Amino acid sequence: MLTDFNHQSLLAAAQALRDGKLVSFPTETVYGLGADATNDDAVAAIYKAKGRPSFNPLIAHVPDFETAQNYADFDDLSTKLAAIFWPGPLTIIRPIKDNSEISPLVTAGLPTLALRVPAPEKARALLAQTGRPVAAPSANLSGRISPTKAVHVAASLDDDCAYILDAGPCQDGLESTIIAPDGNQIVILRPGPVTAEMLKEAMPDSVIITQEEANDSTPSSPGQMSSHYAPTKPVRLHATSRQADEVYIGFGEYGKTEPLNLSPDGNLIEAASNLFAYLHEADKIKGAVIAVAPLPETGIGKAITDRLLRAATGK
Ligand code: TXA
Ligand code: MG
Repeated sequence: MLTDFNHQSLLAAAQALRDGKLVSFPTETVYGLGADATNDDAVAAIYKAKGRPSFNPLIAHVPDFETAQNYADFDDLSTKLAAIFWPGPLTIIRPIKDNSEISPLVTAGLPTLALRVPAPEKARALLAQTGRPVAAPSANLSGRISPTKAVHVAASLDDDCAYILDAGPCQDGLESTIIAPDGNQIVILRPGPVTAEMLKEAMPDSVIITQEEANDSTPSSPGQMSSHYAPTKPVRLHATSRQADEVYIGFGEYGKTEPLNLSPDGNLIEAASNLFAYLHEADKIKGAVIAVAPLPETGIGKAITDRLLRAATGK
């Protein structure tokens, strides 16, 4: 049920989560499909609703760092990172505590747990009120475009959710950056709103390993399969203009007058926030192929390009 995210719906949704039901809630990145992370049946319902492979683990959402420490061990570096970037769009992978009570379905059998404290006050209030860690993948069918608006969730998962809490579009629009800090090293498993540059600036003495620099012995994220974020139409990248029977998504000077331009001013943060909503739109508009303008790969441009490459290798 799609409902305005207010105090009353927050209380009802927290109760629904404690009762083992699914609730979709907004974060600064995308809408999540939440379930009590300590309840096996509730977590199983997430995998079933999304059609998600069970080897792909979930992120546990908590209201603050203190709560996160109940479920995983934080070393020096990860404690500093949490202090700087939480609440915010950074997911930290850490060794799970033995007595964590987290359902093994959340970690898909891994000895580590992904933890995140989302930025919006309402989201953290929901987590605090629920009083349990909340496992939440993006609230889309597995392999499809992530939802940045409540209506995106309602279009595919309405029947599965006790509540879809609508607080408007998500500000950042791209899923959280996922990192595995270890010793003095930070491996970026998924690029996102917290960029490699931001991590470097915060931790100048750490070694930051990006996806391109990773090798076989670097930790990886089981969910980073190449096919992901896929619209139903094929996607053509680096398109400098629109060809016959294409829907064009512009950026900056490319497609300046097109109805869909990620940021006519060439602002990458604005482009990130519009990306998934425009892919949803383009999927509905007449045209056989979605063509996307070239974008710079600096800063958050890296995360945008990552999502676009996955959208283009969708089928
Ligand atoms: O912004 C976000 O992170 C959103 C909002 C709802 O918080 N959530 C999200 O969840 O994007 P999901 O399930 O779509 O992506 C989670 C990713 C997957 O690629 C999964 O493989 C990875 O996190 N992951 C989870 N636990 C992990 C672990 N222990 N080790 C490595 N990767 C892990
Ligand atoms: Mg996802």
